[in-house]
Parts: sequence; C-alpha cells; structure tokens
Amino acid sequence: MLSFNEILQRIEKEIKNLRFEEPPRSLFRPIEYTLTLGGKRIRPAFTLIACNIYREDVEDAIYPALGLEVFHNFTLLHDDLMDEADKRRNKPTVHNKWNANTAILSGDAMLIVAYQLIGETVSHRLKEVLDIFTQTALEICEGQEYDMEFESRMDVSEEEYIEMIRLKTAVLIACCLKTGAIVGGALREDAEHLYRYGINIGLAFQLQDDLLDVYGDSQTFGKNIGGDILCNKKTFLLVQALKLASGKLKEELVGWLEKKDFVPGEKIAEMTSLYNRLGIKELTDERIRYFYAEALKNLSKVKAPKERLAVLYEVGEHLMSRNA
Ligand code: IPE
Ligand code: IPE
Ligand code: MG
Ligand code: MG
Ligand code: MG
Repeated sequence: MLSFNEILQRIEKEIKNLRFEEPPRSLFRPIEYTLTLGGKRIRPAFTLIACNIYREDVEDAIYPALGLEVFHNFTLLHDDLMDEADKRRNKPTVHNKWNANTAILSGDAMLIVAYQLIGETVSHRLKEVLDIFTQTALEICEGQEYDMEFESRMDVSEEEYIEMIRLKTAVLIACCLKTGAIVGGALREDAEHLYRYGINIGLAFQLQDDLLDVYGDSQTFGKNIGGDILCNKKTFLLVQALKLASGKLKEELVGWLEKKDFVPGEKIAEMTSLYNRLGIKELTDERIRYFYAEALKNLSKVKAPKERLAVLYEVGEHLMSRNA
C-alpha cells in the first residue's frame, strides 16, 4: 500500500509530465503556470487512495486522477474571475496576471484537457467514470450559480447554503473518491459509502475554506484574506451572523452589506469584529467537527479491512487541521 507522501509524490511527477508547450503560448502558458503552482492535490490523492484500498497497483487510476486535478484547476480560473480574486497559491491569479479572456479561454482548454485525460480510463470502467464526472461537472456549475445568486440575497438559509457548497465543492471530492473506487474494482455499495464520505469531508472542507478566508494567514492560505467579506459572499459565517444578530448588531451588519462605498480594509475589520462578537468562529468549528464525524461514520461502513483504510483516516485528520 502506498503512503500519503508516496501518493503526493507520484501526482507531482505525473503533473510535471503533462506538456503544454505547443502554440499558441498565450493559451497554454497560463495552464502550465496554474498546474505548476502547486496546491494541495487532495482530489487526485483521494482518487489514488480510494483505488489503492482495493488493489496494490494504482496505474489505472493515474489518468482519471490527473483529469480530475486539471478539472479542479480549471474551475479555479473561472472562479477567481467570478470572485474577482487577485491571489491564489501566493501568486497572481490568471485573470490578474494576464486578463479575463485568458482566464476564460485557457480555462476552457483545461476543461477539454480534463476530459481528454479522463477519456484515457481503461475501457471497461470508462462509461461509469465518465458518467459520474459529467454529472459532477454540471453540478459544480449549479453550485457556482447559486454562490453568485446568493451574493445579492440577505435571506439565505443554512439549508440553502449547505446545498450550494455540496454542489460547488463537495461533489468533486466525492467524485474523486468514487472514481478511484470504481477503477479499483470496489463493490457498488463501497463506492457509494466512499462517495458519501467525500460529500461530508467536502462540506467540512468548504466550511474551513470560509473560515480561513476570514481568520487565516494570507501567506499560509495563499489567498487574500477577506475576499468573501468584500463581495458579500454568503459563507457559513455570514449566513450564521445574519441569523444570530439582532438589534444594534444586526443594523451594523446589514449596514455593511448595503454600503456601496467603503474602504476594503475597514469593511473586513468591522465584519470580522461582528463575527467575533457573535461567536461565529466557534460555531463554524463546531459544524466542521460535525461533518467530519459524519464522514467517519460513512467510512466505517466501507467493507474493506481496516488497515486498507488507514491512509484515508490519516488524510482526514490532516485535512481537519489544515490552515492552507
Ligand atoms: C479551492 O480548493 C477551492 C475550494 C473548493 C475551496 P483547494 O483548497 O483544494 O485548492 P488547492 O488546489 O489546494 O490550491
Ligand atoms: C470554491 O469556492 C468552489 C469552486 C472553485 C468550484 P470558493 O470561491 O470559496 O474557492 P476559493 O476560496 O476561491 O478557493
Ligand atoms: Mg473563489
Ligand atoms: Mg467562488
Ligand atoms: Mg473560498
């Protein structure tokens, strides 16, 4: 069985081998730039780890794993444009370094490359892998659309929020796990338990991302702190704050959300102070632990021998204590 480190090393090596050297350079250079800037590689790692539960040899999972990571990176190009985010992985985002058209078109090319890589999946697993991938890709568009729509709404419920992040974030992590399980030859029920594990880990993951966007360290997180606050993103933090605040606090909160002219640093500081007064950080931490516990329940239902799941347990712990 491969260790988490061996899996990460293998992924890095394979990503380095992807070549984007043909002309036009203005199309392919940003793809190379994005893929070589690192990132946690958690999605392709999940694919290889899930495959490795069922067989020693993970070769068949390499192409789909790479395709899923390229796909994830494509979503980031478009997401950063939509979120007007200038920094990712401590470097300028593609639309910032080049321009919006580049982020759109290089992103489109990455989506196609992702399909190309996933299309290399061994033929007897291809249909199933393509089906779950296509469904997931469409769901992510749905999630991103809700994410955008919610920016201008004040009455987003916790349920709506959870469904939005299930779609924009959790389904891809779940798809990565299920893909690895399918390629590894898992029983259908096991593949489903792993999918559900991925959904719950994914929900916890997005709550952490929301939390780090306010309370993280910019250098470690690699993104600008407060980006979500500046665009009134209905994060878990803001949804809870809107629900819990009353009286003067609520007035202050809504005042900031409605303000058109503000100094960015000031809005971030004031909103953070409101979150602090409402105990939002503690509440978010609690929900993260809840989804992680649900994920562990899903994992306990997988019928593989406990030792085959060791790396998955390790990665779960690793993710729960992340600050990047
Ligand atoms: C960023 O994903 C998008 C979210 C779903 C929050 P990651 O935090 O996995 O980004 P990288 O790939 O490690 O940079
Ligand atoms: C991530 O949402 C969802 C997708 C990229 C599909 P975010 O907008 O929170 O991700 P970051 O914070 O920019 O990485
Ligand atoms: Mg974003
Ligand atoms: Mg976004
Ligand atoms: Mg975010």
